[in-house]
Amino acid sequence: PTPPMNVTVTGAGGQIGYTLVFRIASGALLGPTTPINLTLLEIPGGRAAAEGTALELQDCAFPLLRSVTVTEDPVRAFDGVSIALLVGSRPRAVGMERVALLESNGRIFGPQGLALNEGAASDVRVLVVGNPVNTNALVASAFAPDIPAERFTAMTRLDHNRGLGQLAARLGVPVPEIDGLTVWGNHSASQYPDVSHATAGGRPVSGLVDEAWLTGEFIPRVANRGYEIIQARGASSAASAASAAIDHVYDWVNGTGDRWTSAGVVSDGSYGVPEGLVCSFPVRGVDGRYEIVPNLSIDAFSRARIDNSVAELLEERAAVLSLGLLP
Ligand code: NAI
Repeated sequence: PTPPMNVTVTGAGGQIGYTLVFRIASGALLGPTTPINLTLLEIPGGRAAAEGTALELQDCAFPLLRSVTVTEDPVRAFDGVSIALLVGSRPRAVGMERVALLESNGRIFGPQGLALNEGAASDVRVLVVGNPVNTNALVASAFAPDIPAERFTAMTRLDHNRGLGQLAARLGVPVPEIDGLTVWGNHSASQYPDVSHATAGGRPVSGLVDEAWLTGEFIPRVANRGYEIIQARGASSAASAASAAIDHVYDWVNGTGDRWTSAGVVSDGSYGVPEGLVCSFPVRGVDGRYEIVPNLSIDAFSRARIDNSVAELLEERAAVLSLGLLP
């Protein structure tokens, strides 16, 4: 029998947590044979919601779910963890400055990085879902010097999936026909959803759609889809975010084969992105690791968009550095 894996979700009392944990427990995250010990980390304000969710998890009688623990202690939450989904964060309040957002989240992700460093399993994989994802992953990783930086990733899979959804609808093809889409940069409105290497049924997407649609509709719609969802449902994306988190971890563990996807991973200097930044790249899941897809040609249009988003990542890193949030 497969040994159980320890999975921890932070912010489990929130709206993403409420849909994410049921999919994890059902087997969607790690497959149909891996039993799961689930730990839910919350703060006092979200604890009751997490406790209630734990009761419902029990009521689902999921065959794979071995235990559910609710705690407010990061050290306890990350002890022995193999998959850490860092969803809980401080949301951006109306009128809140970016620096204030970075500061309050730095105070969450620094201590969580420390706790991961102290107690996580040697195979730990970390996905940051709580915004601002790239910089939160950078901060957590900086506080976990014993964990390889490649194990800290940031979620841009929702942006990637949004792009797939838009292309599939526009071209009238099933989603699996589309490959080679990349979301570059920061998980923010500056992100660059790039179709220059994308294919649909093996044919280049650039030959199937006109440029005006790409630049005037596709790129801004994907980049601003979060806002569109808030306008439509009166709350931010939740089930789609949880679904993207499942996809991100599933592909990381099981691999992507020849296909690729997008994820925020630590830069090794590829594509001119400064080393050490957590940036969204085209990635393949290979042997339990995410590898940046090498040697893609980058045209002038793409170069300018990537550079623009990377400049924002550099600003965020400079801000957390100057706030004293990096060790
Ligand atoms: P939410 O506000 O419903 O839930 C967040 C939960 O985190 C709350 O229950 C809160 O008590 C908890 N929390 C706050 N600080 C914590 C800490 N230090 N430790 C543990 N738990 C803590 O928010 P929602 O809608 O679930 O979103 C969560 C995060 O995901 C937000 O930062 C949101 O911006 C982000 N997000 C990211 C997406 C992506 O594509 N990367 C997409 C959608 C949302």
